Amino acid sequence: MDCSSMFEDICIRYSWCKKIVAYVLMMQGMDESHGLPHTIRVLCNSLYLVKRLQDVNMDEEVVILASLLHDIGRGFEDYLNLHHAEISAILAKPILEEVGISRDKQKHVIDAILEHSFSIGGKPSSMESCIVSDADKLDALGAIGVYRLIETSAMRSRVVADTLAHVWEKLVKLPDLMCLDVSRQEAHRRLKVLKEFIDMLRSEILPYEDAIAKSFTIAFDFLEKERKRLTHS
Ligand SMILES: [Fe+2]
Ligand SMILES: [Fe+2]
Repeated sequence: MDCSSMFEDICIRYSWCKKIVAYVLMMQGMDESHGLPHTIRVLCNSLYLVKRLQDVNMDEEVVILASLLHDIGRGFEDYLNLHHAEISAILAKPILEEVGISRDKQKHVIDAILEHSFSIGGKPSSMESCIVSDADKLDALGAIGVYRLIETSAMRSRVVADTLAHVWEKLVKLPDLMCLDVSRQEAHRRLKVLKEFIDMLRSEILPYEDAIAKSFTIAFDFLEKERKRLTHS
């Protein structure tokens, strides 16, 4: 896959491309996990799937717009009581209007944004939605999935046990959530890479886990006793 020339080609063919990419950078930042690099990888995964499927009824512009805007609201999820797919859809609406996308097409793009995440409960209702959803999930697996997992865990100060739980609760299920056979095959290949790393990490930390848990208990107990001693003296 030549992501660079696919991206260049899009920015030549679609007049809105540069503006939307700049908006994504401003709203999502530069981190690999959920910033512009993630969005560009999702875009290229989507374009690769479009090429493989060769479906004449598919609206490529919808796929591209939804791929670029699918996580634009991600950074606001922690402050608002909404799923980031919903925030992204809300933010995408005026952007699509501004760049002159027709009302019909806007609806199609918004649906694909809302349906990209399995945790919101919506299933992809069109081929365009399927592609964006699969393209996004592929980026959570494989070596890049490992990188994003660690980066996200570090940003959220997650302990290793919680990172492993996230893998077993969410990431291992991704291949079964793929819409398309071609993505499912790639997802299984990428999951193998992720699992190999996770298995090694688990076996390495296992001998230390008990002692680390005890060290937390001992430290918290000590601090609690110290607090009581100081407040009662
Ligand atoms: Fe997302
Ligand atoms: Fe995403």
